[in-house]
Amino acid sequence: MMRDPWLSATGPVLCVVGARPNFMKMAPILRALAAHDPSPPALLVHTGQHYDADMNDQLFLGLGLPTPDVNLEVGSGTHAVQTAEVMRRFEPVLDAHRPSCVLVVGDVNSTLACTLVAVKKGVPVAHVEAGLRSFDRSMPEEINRVLTDQIADLLYTTERAAHENLAREGVDASRAHFVGNVMIDSLLVNRPLAVPAAETLRRAGIEPSAFDVTRGYGVVTLHRPANVDQADTLGPLLAVLRDISERLPLVLALHPRTRANIERFGLHCEVSGQRIAVLPPQGYLEMLGLMSGATLVLTDSGGMQEETTALGVPCLTLRENTERPITIEQGTNTLVGRDRGAIERAADQILSGGGKRGRVPEFWDGRAAERLVAHLAGWLARRHQPAEA
Ligand code: UD1
Repeated sequence: MMRDPWLSATGPVLCVVGARPNFMKMAPILRALAAHDPSPPALLVHTGQHYDADMNDQLFLGLGLPTPDVNLEVGSGTHAVQTAEVMRRFEPVLDAHRPSCVLVVGDVNSTLACTLVAVKKGVPVAHVEAGLRSFDRSMPEEINRVLTDQIADLLYTTERAAHENLAREGVDASRAHFVGNVMIDSLLVNRPLAVPAAETLRRAGIEPSAFDVTRGYGVVTLHRPANVDQADTLGPLLAVLRDISERLPLVLALHPRTRANIERFGLHCEVSGQRIAVLPPQGYLEMLGLMSGATLVLTDSGGMQEETTALGVPCLTLRENTERPITIEQGTNTLVGRDRGAIERAADQILSGGGKRGRVPEFWDGRAAERLVAHLAGWLARRHQPAEA
């Protein structure tokens, strides 16, 4: 007789989120855990890496995420301080709840910090979105990815190339499982609820007479330290955006890091004027609406490269590399780096020809979280009942 896998495990599944890109990955996993029969006890822990209303609360609301059971409230800091604070505050949570496993997503500082604490205490860790590699170790996220994958017990992947990356780093193939892209689960569930672009602009005080989305527009996000932390990088990038905006009006959703640097470097003039609408960071349903209706997206975000591929909207990635190669090989993404000529040529091609149409990759089908939870249930059952495995 099949025993209840969850009840035989020692405690709840402890789900960790820390920063904005984690939320859309965890929402479908929590839903799939609740829908699984039998449903396991699950706890949501927020490290508090992101805390502003528009970086946090708006997304929790839009995604229907429950209020976290625990909030570590670590806030901002240097990488060392932030990572250390998460570790210090996460350990007592493990002691108090004795989870059957810890589930982490993505590549932010909270992902690595919680993995390190759990693994050293003998609590199994499942890493969702494992095996992605930019091969650029100057990116803090790349360090977080490599180290998390080395020590986590279960590695759930979004694309098959991830398995080659893991094998190259000596990770045993038995730890890696291709389940698909949970972030696309979120996108497919929420697409009908997306807030239309015109409505988002209106709420920001921008009327259709000033910015008419029906005539086409581009969406821009920029927040990577490599793009926004130096004046001689951020300035030229904003100048290219201003040039493109003369042909296609742009909506720029500004991350707090970028907003602060624009102020610090005195670059306001680059983003002022009628053809660039500057908005605060957007909620999930607002961003989904903006992207869905866009002629093109210009970004350095990891998630938006995948979301535009799922939506079939051309994406120009303002980076020299990507850890998500499938978005280029199969999807709508093109790497354009920071070179002015390359960015403008690629934008022109989209404006004259419509750009890459792409196709949706394997298992980006809305059922990734369901596959993941089914696998996790079986794995935990075997782990706790070795005689019956
Ligand atoms: C983090 C992630 C990055 C992810 C990004 C999405 C790491 C290493 N980086 O980068 O992978 O793509 O989140 O946003 O984990 N700030 C606020 N309010 C907030 C959060 C941040 O004002 O709610 C400001 C602070 O001044 C902070 C700066 O933004 O110093 C950067 O925040 P931080 O969480 O350190 O890194 P991100 O750049 O957001």
